Amino acid sequence: MSSSSSGKGRTPFVGGNWKMNTDLASATALAGAVADAVLRLGAAAGEVAICPPFPYLLAVAEALRVKRSGVLLGAQDVYFEGSGAFTGEVSVGMLKDCGVKVVLTGHSERRHVIGEGDELINRKTRAALDGGLMCILCIGETLAQREAGQTDAVNERQTKAGLVGVGAEHLTSGRLTIAYEPVWAIGTGKNATPGDAQDAHMKIRRVVAGMYGPEAAAAVRIQYGGSVKGSNAAELMAQPDIDGGLIGGASLKAEEFAAIVAAAKRK
Ligand code: PGA
Repeated sequence: MSSSSSGKGRTPFVGGNWKMNTDLASATALAGAVADAVLRLGAAAGEVAICPPFPYLLAVAEALRVKRSGVLLGAQDVYFEGSGAFTGEVSVGMLKDCGVKVVLTGHSERRHVIGEGDELINRKTRAALDGGLMCILCIGETLAQREAGQTDAVNERQTKAGLVGVGAEHLTSGRLTIAYEPVWAIGTGKNATPGDAQDAHMKIRRVVAGMYGPEAAAAVRIQYGGSVKGSNAAELMAQPDIDGGLIGGASLKAEEFAAIVAAAKRK
């Protein structure tokens, strides 16, 4: 079986990761502007998500609701426990109460700035999916790992560790998305060449095939992330195993983000 695929049957998915940016007023304004842009593009419901900071989830939920654009509300992180003495943490149930549909796990800033490891990321991923959220599991190598020729090994390890105990149904249903984000490309203005990104995505899909079989591998969406902009999106999105993107800096400007959504839609 070839684990590469034409992308047939996979709807591209573009996520905006706002990180620790915006304030209440700019978050609601940006959400409204993204919703308007997505409506203009005629993107179908569920093709686009935005992930504001936790304190603005309810306000952004309302800004999205009034537009009826089908843009999904996302969160940047979640804790795996349901409730209890976990100061500062936020549960799946709390996110769902706020209208959240999708959550990021294992973002490189959680891994490398905050210090999260594969086991914690796996628990979060399982809790999100088993609790009924969609989940974007983020993986990717650092510059040192890339220079040491470890890109594929790191992607394989993080994919396997992130998916321990995750049921195949979450992959075949498309509720689990993988975001491949080379750490050296995040927020740096550098991005992988479309060919390098495609090669990594194809190999990640092969890892999923080895774990779950061809049906899950063909269904799982793999987003590319790291300095994606309106100007480089088309080439990246055109690659057969790239199924959309996870966008940081460019997601803070509605028109720039919309250009990336448009490129993913043209796929
Ligand atoms: P960037 O961030 O687009 O600003 O590089 C991507 C991400 O961290 O998801």
